[in-house]
Amino acid sequence: MAISREFIQDIHDRLDIADVISSYVSLKPAGRRFKGLCPFHGEKTPSFTVYPETNSFYCFGCGAAGDVIGFIQRIENLDRIEAIKACADRAGLSMPEEGYDDSLTKRRLRILSANREAARFFNAQLREEKNRHALEYYLNRGLTPATITHFGLGYAPDDWHALTNHLKSMGYTENELILANLSRRSDGKAGCYDIFRNRMMFPIIDVRGNVVAFSGRRYNEQDKQKYVNTSDTPVFKKGNTIFGLNFAKNSSDSRLIIVEGQMDVIALHQAGFTNTVACLGTALTTEQANILARYAEELLICYDNDEAGRKATARALEILENTGLKLKVINMEGGKDPDEIIKTHGKERFNDLIKGAANRTEYRLNTEMSKYNVLTDDGKLKFLTAAAEVLADSSPMEAEIYTLRLANEFGINKDSLSAQIENAKKNLKRKKASERMKEDRAMLANSFSDKSNPERAKNIRAASAEEVLIASLMRNPDFYQKLRDRFSPDDFVTQFNRRIITHLIELIEGGYSTDVGMFSEVFSSEELGSIQRISFRGDETANTLKECEDCIKVIKEEKAALSNPLAQGGEITDEQFADFFRNKQQ
Ligand code: CTP
Ligand code: MN
Repeated sequence: MAISREFIQDIHDRLDIADVISSYVSLKPAGRRFKGLCPFHGEKTPSFTVYPETNSFYCFGCGAAGDVIGFIQRIENLDRIEAIKACADRAGLSMPEEGYDDSLTKRRLRILSANREAARFFNAQLREEKNRHALEYYLNRGLTPATITHFGLGYAPDDWHALTNHLKSMGYTENELILANLSRRSDGKAGCYDIFRNRMMFPIIDVRGNVVAFSGRRYNEQDKQKYVNTSDTPVFKKGNTIFGLNFAKNSSDSRLIIVEGQMDVIALHQAGFTNTVACLGTALTTEQANILARYAEELLICYDNDEAGRKATARALEILENTGLKLKVINMEGGKDPDEIIKTHGKERFNDLIKGAANRTEYRLNTEMSKYNVLTDDGKLKFLTAAAEVLADSSPMEAEIYTLRLANEFGINKDSLSAQIENAKKNLKRKKASERMKEDRAMLANSFSDKSNPERAKNIRAASAEEVLIASLMRNPDFYQKLRDRFSPDDFVTQFNRRIITHLIELIEGGYSTDVGMFSEVFSSEELGSIQRISFRGDETANTLKECEDCIKVIKEEKAALSNPLAQGGEITDEQFADFFRNKQQ
């Protein structure tokens, strides 16, 4: 049994979807709608649209769609029941006691509790005499016992079954352990074995305090894999979790420091920089960028002092550009990563690095400068050309300040640099326009190709009529009374549209709202996107009974035509053709 439709509708009625979404996405009014940058894919021009009238959202760029529940489900990485609970809470409604299928929630809770027990187990190993070497590993890396406890660090013993056996004895099933990605099934043998063996264990804790995953660093430097991490599970998606945010969110600083590794986070927290976080082993994603923007006003990027770190910095600056976060880059002098800097030079040094952090423009100028030998005329020319491009993409005030500075430093006329910047601006404008065009084109392609309805392309006339009928009925449910005897879902040619009309009729007959969100009970998020696109046709159509009747006529014609072999498309045999011809003549 699902949650009752009344309850879902209650949630829709009580929550203002624009209000809810605006705590995650910055929305600007556009007529009766709101627009913003899509939190689910990277984009530079807003195509994410919220429709308060129909309690729904839709992204013209990536096709993401749904209601307020679907939004919360996706952005908070919850299952449907949990998302409904979260929305109900927000709306001041209490969940119905029983009668809904919360098996997925139960499974997630089992995984979370298995993870918590695993974290306890790994941590307890550090107190075993036989694992002294593991405790020493942490102490040698400069961590105090208090820090080890604070982060719940641990050790996975060099054993194939230690954790699996322990958790099984606590009542967890092999299936649950496999789902949690703690154990793996043995090839061709009965039973499971531990995924983490002889590894230093770092629990990954989400902002709600759940242990959602683990990162396991090799203890033995000879091991091939430096890190073994939990792959995606029902409670964990790598691209939208941030290590250390559970602590950093409580720091009084409105700035966050982002570093590469968990050891960096831990070392910095121990040194008092409790506003440090890391995106573990992944390039920063749009989702992570949006989360960061929710918790901070300013972000200090502090990636490793190597080529990979510099590339990651450039990429992060691009992704973060549209989040509204103030950005700075820490120039990592004196060590390969923050962990090393703290250890060799102390926390004062790191404080100085923070104070000297460069803003985005400064950082980009420095990066360009390091690419050329500015002592030669040729290098100087190349650098200043690149600098003009950087300044073309900065605020007017910044451009002015740095133009003056560069002109002085390089002994050139500031007007010639300004002219160069103006030129670069034109190029940049062209480049941005072409990027926007690319986004638009992708958007257009998205709205035409429809994976949800694979039969559409072959039955375009029928599908179009079906869609107009669906769109009209969504908008004018009262038409249904007059049309109900004229057609049935069985008349529909394409299966997907048949499913939609079946559910739509159920909603209308039950007296429910026909908003897109009311379809989320039985349709996937991708399918909701298609339903949203279909409902848009209501804007273009006449919305009259007559039009609906015409649609029904077309649908029936097409359905009938389908039963004749000529319409099957492709080749028909001479015999079939003769048959068909004979039938026609009778
Ligand atoms: N990482 C990963 N898988 C790898 C390498 C790295 O998941 N094969 C992630 C880890 O979360 C790691 C971060 O990327 O913390 C940064 O990697 P690296 O700089 O190699 O690790 P350090 O944190 O410096 O580890 P250590 O100081 O223990 O060598
Ligand atoms: Mn590192």
